[in-house]
Amino acid sequence: MAEDLSINKGEKTEQYQSLIPQIKGLLEGEPDLIANLANVAAALKEQFGWFWVGFYLVKHEQLVLGPFQGPVACTRINKGRGVCGSSWAKAETLIVPDVEKFPGHIACSSLSKSEIVVPLMKEGMVWGVLDVDSGVLDQFDEIDKQYLKAIVELIS
Ligand code: SME
Repeated sequence: MAEDLSINKGEKTEQYQSLIPQIKGLLEGEPDLIANLANVAAALKEQFGWFWVGFYLVKHEQLVLGPFQGPVACTRINKGRGVCGSSWAKAETLIVPDVEKFPGHIACSSLSKSEIVVPLMKEGMVWGVLDVDSGVLDQFDEIDKQYLKAIVELIS
């Protein structure tokens, strides 16, 4: 497929609906995981302009930083620590409207105000997480959860 992303400026749902087939096109025929994670992070960042979009991958009982778009970030997160480690431990999506109110939140940047973390699952096991940070409070809702889950299922 063409490498240019077509950016939809409509409602959030329309933005996801325009993005998902393009992500499918980017992933199609490419078996390399890192290449695919990199393109998904780039596509989400380009469409939505969020502060930070990236992946952490489970390696030796820690989450280790993977492909991302945005400022430099912490490289290792233990299970149960921060939003990412909690999402891993619970194997569920976490929406944090105000990161300062999340006990144990790991502040990679003081500019991050709200966050959503979606686990990457295979056969009931978490093998990584998608982490998205916004510079705006209360950025993420059930619509983001629904579509980001659909997007990570394309990778898993
Ligand atoms: N805030 C995350 C850490 C990762 S950075 O936001 C990129 C957390 O609490 O797990």
